[in-house]
Amino acid sequence: MSKNIKKIAVMTSGGDSPGMNAAIRSVVRTCAFHNIECVGIYRGYQGLIDGDFVEMTARSVSNIINKGGTILKSARCKLFRTPEGRNVAHKNLLKEGVEALIVIGGDGSFTGAMIFNQEYGYPVIGIPGTIDNDIYGTKYTLGYDTALNTVVDVIDKIRDTASSHNRLFFVEVMGRDAGHLALNAGVGAGAEEILIPEENLGLERLLESLERSRKSGKTSSIVVVAEGHKTGENVFGLAEYVEKNLPNYDIRVSVLGHLQRGGAPSCFDRVLASRMGVKAVESILEGKSNYMVGINNDTIVLTPLDQAIKGKSEIDADLLRVSDIMTI
Ligand code: F6P
Repeated sequence: MSKNIKKIAVMTSGGDSPGMNAAIRSVVRTCAFHNIECVGIYRGYQGLIDGDFVEMTARSVSNIINKGGTILKSARCKLFRTPEGRNVAHKNLLKEGVEALIVIGGDGSFTGAMIFNQEYGYPVIGIPGTIDNDIYGTKYTLGYDTALNTVVDVIDKIRDTASSHNRLFFVEVMGRDAGHLALNAGVGAGAEEILIPEENLGLERLLESLERSRKSGKTSSIVVVAEGHKTGENVFGLAEYVEKNLPNYDIRVSVLGHLQRGGAPSCFDRVLASRMGVKAVESILEGKSNYMVGINNDTIVLTPLDQAIKGKSEIDADLLRVSDIMTI
């Protein structure tokens, strides 16, 4: 392993996700293991521009592996999208003597890192952290497994009351552009229908499906709706549309919102974060840059950042079919 790098910085950026703290811990402790200094940057790229840095040691990340959120805070930073903002960020890193940057975040955060690398030749490595699981080059992103379990747990509770009152519930889950969370949580929670951004089967089909299930003897149902679904209505509009066309249904709407992003990370996310953090630091020490760490076939792999950003993380077509069969 190369001994040239003496100081690495780590930040969390964009929407937070459970497991980010476990990844920070892993990065900091891997640095300590290799006798490299590590600094944390608060509030993602905003903190980089503001020079909001903190020295981190193996002990400063004690008792965080089990915590949701991120001790380094997170932000979506418009200023870093400008050359002026990136210039200030670069100067701050040089001033601190930081020689490489690890960014824990989603595709927006990786785009910033990649541009920064192109402009300044600055070494960057990404760790995917988002509950959306929408990043090419990794089967799982940090926080996705935890969020899935959170959503299934909440829908189980909604099912109790839906069943008591013979109601139809529309449950909106996060996912602006990706339906992984909706599809997998929907199958796991036994949803009647699942509406995702990647597949628009139209409102007619939703009505047909609900009618069919009512005729088959179902007395209550759950429809899981991803935020970014493409029917052209928001979740309340959808509920109104169904109410108008199928007046027999007693309908309620639940928008799960940001509770999906919080909570203690699952064991899966903690282990994944620990593995990814080690790989991120050791990749930098091997002289690698401009990659994202991911997991495929239970192996930790690297994908060039541009591919991770541009590539599409495809929805599991087989799971869509499984979902259809389960709603008979
Ligand atoms: O990208 C993660 C995500 O949680 C999306 O699922 C959601 O659409 C978005 O972030 C919400 O962002 P914010 O917290 O900025 O409202």
